[in-house]
Amino acid sequence: MGEKQRLDKLLSSQGTWSRSDVKKLIGKGKVSVNHEPITKADHKVDSEKDIIAVDGREIVCKQYIYLLMDKPSGVVCAVSDKTDKTVIDIIPEQYQRKGLFPVGRLDKDTEGLLIITNDGDFAHKVTSPKTNLYKTYQAVIDSSISEEDIQAFENGIVFKDGTKCRKAFLRQLDNNNNPLVEVRICEGMFHQVKKMLLTRGKKVLHLKRTAIGGLTLDGSLNKRKFAEIDYLAINDILFDNLYEIHC
Ligand code: URA
Repeated sequence: MGEKQRLDKLLSSQGTWSRSDVKKLIGKGKVSVNHEPITKADHKVDSEKDIIAVDGREIVCKQYIYLLMDKPSGVVCAVSDKTDKTVIDIIPEQYQRKGLFPVGRLDKDTEGLLIITNDGDFAHKVTSPKTNLYKTYQAVIDSSISEEDIQAFENGIVFKDGTKCRKAFLRQLDNNNNPLVEVRICEGMFHQVKKMLLTRGKKVLHLKRTAIGGLTLDGSLNKRKFAEIDYLAINDILFDNLYEIHC
């Protein structure tokens, strides 16, 4: 059971309403706890146990939240942006709250699996190369790969500025006019997949992230654009058997 706290404080911490908005909503009888309308802003609630609703819509109140998104192309991986729509802008209203940010970055034109959270420690664990958590991408490229390309990825691609990438995996999935390849990396440098392939003379025409560790686009989202996942489940899928899977 979680700690009890004031209803107005809890609701205003979710990012959608100010404390005075919440007081007004309560005054109008629009807030219920366990299906009973509440009249007092200082009513004490347990966010993990009580069912809290505003205007009949249940509010997901948790300290930390873990959201999975199938990021569309054309949306930027940032919290705010002057010109473009961000991944935070397209989160459904009931999950909107202060402090949400994308875990790692996908380019504006990259699609696929993205985690969004307000849990900084968790995000650090997912993105740190030391965790050895491999991210899987599918790339449509402009020419076929060779055994030497595969070996170069395993040996560690070196960029023009001398930066050496960690061991990565490249394999061909399909060889149509534009070959489809799979790339697995455990880092998140800027444009990393595109740059790694470019060092081997391959231009990326389309890029999609299909998995983060054991968390897959098909398995976790199953054609949905958006889903919430709880802390235990996401940790289990991401980090369990990490070393068996990837080494
Ligand atoms: N590598 C890239 O080049 N782009 C991405 O969006 C993600 C990884």
